[in-house]
Amino acid sequence: MSNIIETLNAAGQQDLAARLETLEGDARAKLERDILSQDWEELRALYTEKSTTSLEDNVSADLKPMPFKIAADDLRYAFWKETGEILLGKGQVAAFLVAGGQGSRLGFDGPKGMFDIGLPSHKSLFQLQAERLQNLAAQVGHAIPWCIMTSPLNHEATVNFFTEHRFFGYARENIRFFDQGTICALTPDGHAVVDNDRLALVPDGNGGCFRALAQSGTLAWLIERGVRYVFLYSVDNALCRICDPAFIGALASEGRSMSASKVVHKAGPNENVGIFALQNNKPGVVEYSDLPESYRDMTNADGSLTFDGGNIAIHLFKIEGLRKLQTSKLPWHTARKTVCGIEKCWKFEQFLFDAFPQLGTMMPFGVIREEEFSPVKNADGNDSPKTAREMIGRLHREWLRKAHVEVKPGKLYEVSPTLSYAGEGLSRRVFERELGRNILEFDAE
Ligand code: UTP
Repeated sequence: MSNIIETLNAAGQQDLAARLETLEGDARAKLERDILSQDWEELRALYTEKSTTSLEDNVSADLKPMPFKIAADDLRYAFWKETGEILLGKGQVAAFLVAGGQGSRLGFDGPKGMFDIGLPSHKSLFQLQAERLQNLAAQVGHAIPWCIMTSPLNHEATVNFFTEHRFFGYARENIRFFDQGTICALTPDGHAVVDNDRLALVPDGNGGCFRALAQSGTLAWLIERGVRYVFLYSVDNALCRICDPAFIGALASEGRSMSASKVVHKAGPNENVGIFALQNNKPGVVEYSDLPESYRDMTNADGSLTFDGGNIAIHLFKIEGLRKLQTSKLPWHTARKTVCGIEKCWKFEQFLFDAFPQLGTMMPFGVIREEEFSPVKNADGNDSPKTAREMIGRLHREWLRKAHVEVKPGKLYEVSPTLSYAGEGLSRRVFERELGRNILEFDAE
């Protein structure tokens, strides 16, 4: 006991130590457990470092853009796709969903994957993903292991939702849910935030995924199953081509790299996406909030953006890469947010893309935004359920048009992922049979 108090005092957390001393019984045990889950020396060092560092210090002066090409324009694309399908068919690929975030911008009360973006089918993001994966698994003839990272704040709700929906048809033995770690939020002057005699513990960022994958035994589970490639994606991209065979085939057949990442052309200088760049000649991502304006607005002679490679949080790792990252130290980023009613608190998080410099070379794989990237971040405006509905509606309409199906002018369409993974197999006959069931029509808003 005195050890806890000493540790807290040594880390400048006298207020918390005093608070603990006032508690008894169950309340004391709970707060003690929270306290023991944290590394107080690290928190102290983080606060000292972050409260004295300016934004520009996060970014190396030697920042160069990372060139990329749209993969579908490459002559090897069909070969990559076939290679990826073979690997999927051998059971060598797994999907890894990072879903431990709090989704505060969306303002939905529950795990973001449970959110219904308002498509005519009213399927949740989790259901859309489960169906897409199962369609692909059926095509390649092998189940795809699905790892789902939650946080202690949304774990139970996530697992309950899947259970209530019978895992959306996914075989239970092919899914693994596991928690990521948490870190204590600090007040503006560096004290632990306490709420109802508990620490304000928040998820430690999606960069916690490498630690969590290993510590939960999931990495070992994947290795045992013979998985060699892990496709990592975010919960809120309504257009994510999960386990895209071409992407997998490209890394497998071309790459000496340990990882590959999908890249889109940035919509404009102010788009809130990180950019791929070389820092000190090492590949990585600079988050939009860390990118100084001078870099953000930099243009080439033809007026195009110099730092144009947008990160859409779709990555592929070789299993050796994940093995290497399980014990690696990633840097901490900060956000100043209101926590438990206290403004400008310090929240610390790790970003998974900071792993790339540690893995050496990385393969960028350019994709078309309209086909693969529609994040649901905000309740309204940009990157919202409305923009996602419209993007899906337009893309699926285009799939049907390419299949020589006559679509109604002005209408949008939702094609069930159970019917088509990425636009394949939608002949006129399928359309006529499925319209109103697995193909739903809706109006643009
Ligand atoms: P975001 O950066 O959009 O964060 O996450 P968020 O927490 O979901 O949303 P806001 O910022 O509070 O509005 C990108 C992806 O990383 C996951 C999210 O679940 C999402 O899939 N993530 C984020 C984690 O898994 N853990 C975290 O600690 C943070």
